[in-house]
Amino acid sequence: MKRLGILLSGRGSNFEAIADRVADGYLEASIAVVISNRPEARGLALARERGIPAVSIPAKGLDREVYDRFLLHELHQNGVDLVCLAGYMRLLSAGFVREFANRILNIHPSLLPAFPGLDAQHQALEYGVKISGCTVHFVDEYLDAGPVLLQAAVPVYDDDTVETLSGRILKEEHRIYSEAIRIVLRGQYRIEGRRVMLK
Ligand code: GRF
Repeated sequence: MKRLGILLSGRGSNFEAIADRVADGYLEASIAVVISNRPEARGLALARERGIPAVSIPAKGLDREVYDRFLLHELHQNGVDLVCLAGYMRLLSAGFVREFANRILNIHPSLLPAFPGLDAQHQALEYGVKISGCTVHFVDEYLDAGPVLLQAAVPVYDDDTVETLSGRILKEEHRIYSEAIRIVLRGQYRIEGRRVMLK
């Protein structure tokens, strides 16, 4: 059985959605460890409540390469096969990405390549798009880049606020992240350049 490592920085709702799908057997995997750069992250507390090992590694004063070596150590200690970023607010170093090449996923609350970076839902409203959504992609060392695995679209309504739009997108995030993880766990894909072909 494959072992997932979850990296997060905050609320942890995507982690919860994944943990639910592990618990109900949709994902044939276990969550080996949840790691946060923020000790106060709600996601860590949620993991502990579920009896999942939860580790905080504060980044203060460490440069990225050094920090990522701590991360790698913890992930290897726990025998992690696939790393899932779930609201993890740090860029990964090239060294980290090389070590887990094509074995790191991220979820982003926009239809990439539109609106990478922070506050994607706010960016979408400001821009005035009529459709937004979310993207699960493989992670490289660049921000919200890397081959796209799955996307889901949602409408943007005239009376949307950041909160209402975020809520509509989040529902789709919770659905497609587990779908994408399942595809990767089962090897039902191949990567050709930037394109991920699903089998
Ligand atoms: C989600 O919107 C995710 O797409 C983005 O950060 C947010 C994390 O939310 N990367 P949560 O911590 O999973 O609730």
